[in-house]
Amino acid sequence: MNRLEELRRRHAAAEDGGGLERRERQHREGKLAVRERIELLLDEGSFEELDKLVQHRCRDFGMDGQTIPGDGLVTGHGRINGRLTYVFAQDFTVFGGSLSETNARKICKVMDLALKVGAPVIGLNDSGGARIQEGVLSLGGYADIFLRNTLSSGVVPQISAIMGPCAGGAVYSPAITDFTFMVADTSYMFVTGPDVLKTVTHEEVTKEELGGPMTHNATSGVGHFIAADDADCVRMIRELMGFLPQNNREDPPRRVCEDPVDRADPELDKIVPAESNQPYDMKDVIRRVVDDADFFEVHEHFARNIVVGFARIDGRPVGIVGNQPAFLAGCLDIDSSVKGARFVRFCDAFNIPIITFEDVPGFLPGTAQEFGGIIRHGAKLLYAYAEATVPKITVITRKAYGGAYCVMGSKHLRTDVNLAWPSAEIAVMGAEGAVNIVYRRELAGAGPEARVAKVAEFNERFASPFVAAEHGFIDDVIEPRETRPRLARALRMLETKVDTTPKRKHGNIPL
Ligand code: HXC
Repeated sequence: MNRLEELRRRHAAAEDGGGLERRERQHREGKLAVRERIELLLDEGSFEELDKLVQHRCRDFGMDGQTIPGDGLVTGHGRINGRLTYVFAQDFTVFGGSLSETNARKICKVMDLALKVGAPVIGLNDSGGARIQEGVLSLGGYADIFLRNTLSSGVVPQISAIMGPCAGGAVYSPAITDFTFMVADTSYMFVTGPDVLKTVTHEEVTKEELGGPMTHNATSGVGHFIAADDADCVRMIRELMGFLPQNNREDPPRRVCEDPVDRADPELDKIVPAESNQPYDMKDVIRRVVDDADFFEVHEHFARNIVVGFARIDGRPVGIVGNQPAFLAGCLDIDSSVKGARFVRFCDAFNIPIITFEDVPGFLPGTAQEFGGIIRHGAKLLYAYAEATVPKITVITRKAYGGAYCVMGSKHLRTDVNLAWPSAEIAVMGAEGAVNIVYRRELAGAGPEARVAKVAEFNERFASPFVAAEHGFIDDVIEPRETRPRLARALRMLETKVDTTPKRKHGNIPL
């Protein structure tokens, strides 16, 4: 056979992967084949494959007769909206996408290039974890990847999609990356699967319950997004990439903005209910303020008392954090603190300004929270806001009580611009609680009118933005309708902001 023919044969074998029958099984299960995924992810014709001819070196367990060029992993680089992106994608049709020693080397090669060049890495995972036949060589390969995930963290964006049943190492690498996508009905993540669980703990649980998309998006918080199917998943990844810079030395990409920056919105004047304990949806506020009402929500199903996601104002990408009065009254608890902290740190690492919409009655009280460590988890959010040096802007729409006032991007944590709506209530605690403590003795023998009068006095003095504004903790009290123009101007003013933290190896965030 001449060399050209041999090359073509090898390429064809690589493209065939585990064969037609296994590819058809993927399709029957509602999944795309590995190369179809890459084609949809990247700009048309932009993919350049690396290591297509690499083969595994395992000679045990009858593996010597079973080599497939590429070894069940497609790696390389291409473009998303013209911007360079590195990609690796596991082919479940070849040994269940399991990770061989050579697979690991292929992944490390693209990760090393990505770090040197300064471009994101996207991993499309569809893998049963460490290739069992290769033993410790496979485990070592995973550890090599984990090291690179860690060293790349905060330098280039790392995105993971879970597009099949992923176990063991195939879930730990995604856990170190910035965002994890899952696909409805076809993706699962677990350290140990249902069969092992049954043997070890006698627990009977389905794949879906143990590690399905909703489990990880709503309960564990491991997943950040759920896509309807594979095509939707790669479309969402492309959308997300549009908000992110290529690396930590770049600013995020600005777009031309068609939505007028000076657009006032009178509806915002009416959005906060007259009764302070009535809910409203903070996402309505966010959508009314940002460009084209386009809000790309992250962690939509997890800790819904806080809302985080990306949007643009005047074409500039921003990270948005909002308390959600429509869920648990917007209280901060363990999950919402961790969710908020992780998002704030991502934005800070990648030069994305943070805008906070605050309406929070405080930290959620109770034994479950205290025993679960709300003190240490709440401190993460505090720490994340305090250490962030990107432009920070906070808008208090209503409640800013107690420790939550301090945490949610207060002036004291070096937030650059702090604004409040006239409906803002900034105090140590609500008037009822405050009166119960401060006037306990005085009101002990008094009638209910005396109590009502004290509560009213407290509300008048403290449940407003004016005391904070008198002290300069709030830069201005604004009409809600003016929020978008004010934010746009503040972002422009802060464009060249530089702030630093003391030189150190790294901080010690309360994990
Ligand atoms: C080698 C594997 C494999 C693996 C699957 N296959 N996992 N081959 N190593 N880890 C092969 C199967 O033999 C089968 O080959 C094909 O892939 C498809 O697998 P099925 O079981 O038929 O598919 P399905 O029923 O969909 O189940 C998928 C699965 C299951 C849930 C992933 O295969 C499974 O539980 N695999 C083992 C998971 C695991 O425990 N991995 C090790 C984790 S430890 P044929 O030839 O029949 O198509 C680890 C260490 C790192 O990863 C730790 C880091 C901290």
